[in-house]
Amino acid sequence: MAERDPAFTAAQVVEKPSHPHESAHLHVTGSARYADDLAEPGDMLHLAFGMASEAHAAITAMDLAAVRAAPGVVAVYTAADIPCANDVSPVAHDDRLLADGEVISHGQPVFLVAATSRDAARRAARLGEITYEPRSALVTAAQARAAQSLIEPTQRMARGDADKALAGAPQRLAGSFEMGGQDHFYLEGQVCVATPGEDGQVHLVSSTQHPSEVQHLVAHMLGLTSADVTVEVRRMGGAFGGKETQAALIAAASALVAAKTGRPAKLRLDRDDDMVATGKRHPFEVSYEVGFDDAGRLLALKLGLSSPCGATVDLSPAINDRAMFHADNCYYLADVEILSERLKTNTVSATAFRGFGGPQGMLAIERIMDHVAQHLGCEPLDLRIANLYAPGRDTTPYEMKVADNIAPDMIAHLRTSSRYDERAAKIAAFNADSAVIKKGIALTPVKFGISFTTTHLNQAGALIHVYADGSIQVNHGGTEMGQGVYIKVAQVVADVFAVPIESVRCTATRTDKVPNTSATAASSGADLNGMAAFDAASRIRARLVGFLARTYGCRKAEVRFTPEGVQAGAASLTFGEVARRAHIGRVSLSSTGFYATPDIAYDREAHKGRPFYYFAYGAAVSEVAVDTLTGEHKVLAVDILHDVGASLNPMIDKGQIEGGFIQGQGWLTTEELVWDDKGRLLTHSPATYKIPTASDRPARFSIALWDGQNVEPTINRSKAVGEPPFMLAISVFSALTRAVAAVAPERRELPPLDAPATPERVLKAINAHREGALVA
Ligand code: MTE
Ligand code: MOS
Repeated sequence: MAERDPAFTAAQVVEKPSHPHESAHLHVTGSARYADDLAEPGDMLHLAFGMASEAHAAITAMDLAAVRAAPGVVAVYTAADIPCANDVSPVAHDDRLLADGEVISHGQPVFLVAATSRDAARRAARLGEITYEPRSALVTAAQARAAQSLIEPTQRMARGDADKALAGAPQRLAGSFEMGGQDHFYLEGQVCVATPGEDGQVHLVSSTQHPSEVQHLVAHMLGLTSADVTVEVRRMGGAFGGKETQAALIAAASALVAAKTGRPAKLRLDRDDDMVATGKRHPFEVSYEVGFDDAGRLLALKLGLSSPCGATVDLSPAINDRAMFHADNCYYLADVEILSERLKTNTVSATAFRGFGGPQGMLAIERIMDHVAQHLGCEPLDLRIANLYAPGRDTTPYEMKVADNIAPDMIAHLRTSSRYDERAAKIAAFNADSAVIKKGIALTPVKFGISFTTTHLNQAGALIHVYADGSIQVNHGGTEMGQGVYIKVAQVVADVFAVPIESVRCTATRTDKVPNTSATAASSGADLNGMAAFDAASRIRARLVGFLARTYGCRKAEVRFTPEGVQAGAASLTFGEVARRAHIGRVSLSSTGFYATPDIAYDREAHKGRPFYYFAYGAAVSEVAVDTLTGEHKVLAVDILHDVGASLNPMIDKGQIEGGFIQGQGWLTTEELVWDDKGRLLTHSPATYKIPTASDRPARFSIALWDGQNVEPTINRSKAVGEPPFMLAISVFSALTRAVAAVAPERRELPPLDAPATPERVLKAINAHREGALVA
């Protein structure tokens, strides 16, 4: 193997220009091809699920004669038709492709229709006659808790003696609140196109964040090997965690029909079906007892986190773990006990969603900060600052040292740049004068752990080809869902050879190019795949250096790749010439690359260790106005300071920060999931489920990047950005709480506000806060 240039390391900061997203020109002209845009062969079959009408029931009979007889129907399949494993689960083998004898959530797929058109398939799917024998359904958290229905035992993360510290604390408070789940509402719904190949092989174009898992599950379902199944993903029209595990169901259905019929098969879920049948963010119930001193410094915390995880395990253990990991946020919790209850309910299984449990844990501690500040009548920001990690108070409840604690500096900086104190004073004066409209302002920080907490997932592979004309193809395990991982990795590769970005072609992610990949998730796409691609590219570069040194009789140190071309001693060549000569010189111009995150280890039994390679930080100031007659609100202004280390692409990163924030704002304000008492989702379309629109974007929205670099030797000292900014929106919820509190400014109680803070909930909190004042 060619030796590598020690001076040339991935850990050096390289000033990165803000190249546009590699598909921006295709996105805006409508020429980016998504799975559903691919030309359809004439014999393609279109699929639809027959879905369960019960939340929990035995299937006693199924009459599908009318479905089979419907116009255009070519085949109808049930669980009995699955050749091998009826399993589309990531870990626990409890997610069925098609219900087998029993349904465990409303909307669960029971049978699968293949027809000559999508419309025909959907119409026929409604004709199934299924006889159910209902079983007792646990559709609410309270029902599941009463039945002690759990997906796994309650987990405990603790340090010190929270009970004793609580008993000894000068002041104590207790409280509880709830937060809702969230639908991913990716613009492109779940979709897969399966094409049968020779010898039983199958090729899938799947809208998935996890091609290797889809490959693996489809192979098991059909009784094939992984080598028989190829999964390809050029891009997704948004995913947000909703295509990490959930895409497998759609892919497996398509693959089943392709395998059975020998015809290409496409399943694109209708939006309502997608919202009903695929998983969402976990709602949480939070309860706490907190002890603190008169200055508001936390001394003891007993925190209860409880989430209905739905009917199957999915990724709920890891998601709830991440909620525990983020229940400290930026604050030192000396004596602490976190109990995390994971309920099994007869609702669609909850799944990954941007932040992966982190937002839920973080909202808990930020609410507690607001509660303590309200009780003491002090400025919440001062209370937050008093509780930040600091020297000597710098280990998390899971005993990881917070080695790069930049939160205090960032908060101080943002407090000044956003004129926080001046604005808070103005708002207080405004509220004193304004009877109907009340304003609120809040600054909340974010500290988000970067790495998969399942340690072995922190690995990635890449495959780079340099063609003899000097053009370069980059392939890696990361999938593109709009977040810009392709352009970021392409920039890393372009820099290795000092070629313009136009020389680098990003290709579709494919399991036959890079095998055994992890999901593009945990915000780690650029961290992991950027490093793997760097590894592959620098191997080729090292070969070129050796070849040029031999050819031009110079030392290796005299070979330099520059934007003006390649220097080899006295010779000066274009990169294209180098590639052509190396090819003629019989030098391999293709290489794989690999990366595994170093230095992480976690003991899940004890909930101790270093699960994260590093932390990404941020802070946001939100200012809101509430109409106390209607409960409606407006986010007036937002100032964000966010840490992406040394950015791989500043504009892409700002886009992630803006999008993440707004998505978080939607979670906490307008996006409300409502189930009825039969476990049916009532909010299953854009008509009843309100994501943020352009008019919800704050009129003033300023985003600045923290000028820093990663203390760990990540790719060009950058930091992950995909999820952390989501949690900056907690500042909106805190600001709303303060605006509501302003209706009775003399009160020291925290207004009882649950999330999402819809007008109804805000109004309820206003009334409760006012009534409390009357009673007091
Ligand atoms: N940005 C866009 N535009 N679309 C998405 O689906 N998903 C988010 C985030 N940003 C998402 C996004 C989630 S949940 C994750 S984990 C990261 O992107 C994944 O990509 P990365 O690891 O490359 O940051
Ligand atoms: Mo993101 S929730 O880790 O896909």
